[in-house]
Amino acid sequence: MAGKKRYLLKNKRDPAEYRPDIAFQAIQYILDSRVNKIGRLKALYVKTQQGILFQIKPHARLPRTYKRFSGLMVQLLQKLHITASGKGEKLLRVIKNPVTQYLPIKSRKIGFSHSSEKLVKMHDYVGTVNSELDLVFVVGAMAHGKIDKDYVEDYVSISSFPLSAVYCLSIITNALEQKWDIL
Ligand SMILES: C[S@@+](CC[C@H](N)C(=O)[O-])C[C@H]1O[C@@H](n2cnc3c(N)ncnc32)[C@H](O)[C@@H]1O
Repeated sequence: MAGKKRYLLKNKRDPAEYRPDIAFQAIQYILDSRVNKIGRLKALYVKTQQGILFQIKPHARLPRTYKRFSGLMVQLLQKLHITASGKGEKLLRVIKNPVTQYLPIKSRKIGFSHSSEKLVKMHDYVGTVNSELDLVFVVGAMAHGKIDKDYVEDYVSISSFPLSAVYCLSIITNALEQKWDIL
C-alpha cells in the first residue's frame, strides 16, 4: 500500500476523498486553455474538501509535474500565499469564504453535475446566456460527492455519461472558444 493511502487509513480518513491529482489536472487544463491565453479567464477559485478556499491568478505559471505541484500546495497551506519571484505579486492566495463575495454581481453561475435533470448541449447553452453577464462555472474536481449547489443559478448536465472533471472542462472551454471565435 502506498504511504499516503496508509497514512489516510491510519487516521480514519477515506483515501477516495483525497484526490488532489484531479484538482492538479483540472487547474492545469484551465490555465492552458485558449480562453485563458486570450485573457478571458478572469478568476479561478478552488475549494478543498476541508473548506479552504484559494484563488489562483489566471497568469500564474504552476509546476507541470504533480510532485512539484503538491509541494507548492503544501507551501500555500502553510504560508497562505505564494508570491511571484521578484515582483511580490501573490499568485496564489488563501482567501476567506464564501466564494460568492468575489463573484461578479452581473453573472450567471452555472453548476455542473451528471445528476442534474437539465441535460443541455453546452455549445447551444452558452449561446443563450445574455452576453452582458460574466459566466461562472462550478465543476467538481473530486472523485465522489457533488458541488455546492446553494449559490448556483442553473444546474446542468452536459452529457448522458458521467465525465471526469477535465473532460467536463474541455466541453466548457470548447463551447466558449467557439462562442467567442477563439482559434
Ligand atoms: C468525476 S465527476 C464527480 C462525480 C460525482 N459523483 C458527480 O456526479 O458529480 C467530476 C465533476 O465533473 C462534472 N461532471 C461530470 N459528469 C458530468 C455531466 N455529465 N454533466 C455535467 N457535469 C459533469 C461535475 O461537476 C462533477 O463534480
